[in-house]
Amino acid sequence: MPVPYRLTVLGTGYLGATHAACMAELGFEVLGLDVDAGKIERLMRGELPIHEPGLEELLRRNLASGRLRFTTSYQEAAEFGDVHFVCVGTPQKKGEYAADVSYLDAVVDSLAPYLDRECLVVGKSTVPVGTAERLAEKLVRLAPAGSQVELAWNPEFLREGFAVQDTLKPDRIVLGVTSERAEKVLRDVYAPLGDIPMVVTDYPTAELVKSAANAFLATKISFINAMAEVCEASHADVKQLSLALSFDERIGGKFLNPGLGFGGGCLPKDIRAFMARAGELGADQALTFLREVDAINMRRRARMVDLARGLVGGSFHGCTVGVLGAAFKPNSDDIRDSPALDVAVTISQSGGRVTVYDPVALDNARRAHPSLGYADSVTGAVSGADVVLLLTEWQEFVLLDPEELGQAVRTRNIVDGRNALDAETWRAAGWNYRALGRP
Ligand code: UGA
Repeated sequence: MPVPYRLTVLGTGYLGATHAACMAELGFEVLGLDVDAGKIERLMRGELPIHEPGLEELLRRNLASGRLRFTTSYQEAAEFGDVHFVCVGTPQKKGEYAADVSYLDAVVDSLAPYLDRECLVVGKSTVPVGTAERLAEKLVRLAPAGSQVELAWNPEFLREGFAVQDTLKPDRIVLGVTSERAEKVLRDVYAPLGDIPMVVTDYPTAELVKSAANAFLATKISFINAMAEVCEASHADVKQLSLALSFDERIGGKFLNPGLGFGGGCLPKDIRAFMARAGELGADQALTFLREVDAINMRRRARMVDLARGLVGGSFHGCTVGVLGAAFKPNSDDIRDSPALDVAVTISQSGGRVTVYDPVALDNARRAHPSLGYADSVTGAVSGADVVLLLTEWQEFVLLDPEELGQAVRTRNIVDGRNALDAETWRAAGWNYRALGRP
């Protein structure tokens, strides 16, 4: 049995909804809060606003057991919680690189005036280094209980599509704390997870671990995509290059898949926010390489468009383009900064008739880009196509039968934006197969 702390989770987006359901699953009583009443109503009915394998089941089971509840009231949350996890987003500011931390400030402003007894507030959001120290001072200033209210920073490393697994079996836990009491509370909270490597440190280091981790992952992807550019110029094959590199244990094969590059709500905005913060601290030179990481990533999208244009004779005007994939990666309905949709929109704006299919992200894509064409099946998307573009490597696409698909298109042209298909099989079926970084 876990220590019977009562937990709140403030913000029920991707991170918050997952954290709340997983903590309840561990046996804690959990109260989730969001300012969006519509979202709270749906969650109370057991409906997830996002697609995340395994999470809805967890939500429903813990709602039924009574361990998990939701509210929109900060007063209720303050009265209920011994430990308050703050899980709100820190999006990129409009027209700037910096992160917008106003949702975090709003949580502290709303919660603190009700905190009249000892408790721990735990930030999980990805933030510019220095944010925790500022929020800790604010908490103590605004809370009636003063210094009995402490802040800890506990960054989250979950991946969309694996959110439950990453929360219940994390590869490490990082705690930024300023007291032994805060450390003990968090050790107790995470004890039911078992023996997970734990790094206990100060606020700035804990905040930086997250920025550094995402910067490293983005750099690894852009490194292999830079190699793809050189491969394109020298008729080499980046997929084989990547495979050969992966056998070196110091390099490893993960996050070394060349293709259309990274998107989503995290890596792109996090590397930009990291550069912006380093600039404010006078350390901008240290991170100028991330500008290149970002640029390499964006160039892959342009290269994808060029490859497709080349296959249809140099112009998209009058051409039908079948797009497979809208989500920023498979097993997710998230279309934030999706490379797939970016490519689809560019081609549509260049005169192509684009039809998009995605197994789960179609509704989100439709809402965000109503001018694109959509279909409810692969066949619908590629019907009469002059070229097919595979932009998100859903398993459904990887398993496609090239012969069958060939019956639906006008011309057997395909660009594999994720290096997910077997080139030989597709060429043997009469397809003009092209891929990023390969001859
Ligand atoms: C990322 C990190 O992987 C998580 O550790 C982190 O917690 C999370 O951001 C966050 O900050 O919250 P996520 O955005 O869910 O997780 O997605 P990833 O699995 O990292 O994929 C990011 C993008 O990189 C996708 O567009 C994917 O297609 C692309 N990618 C990934 C590649 O192009 N090549 C690869 O080899 C791997």
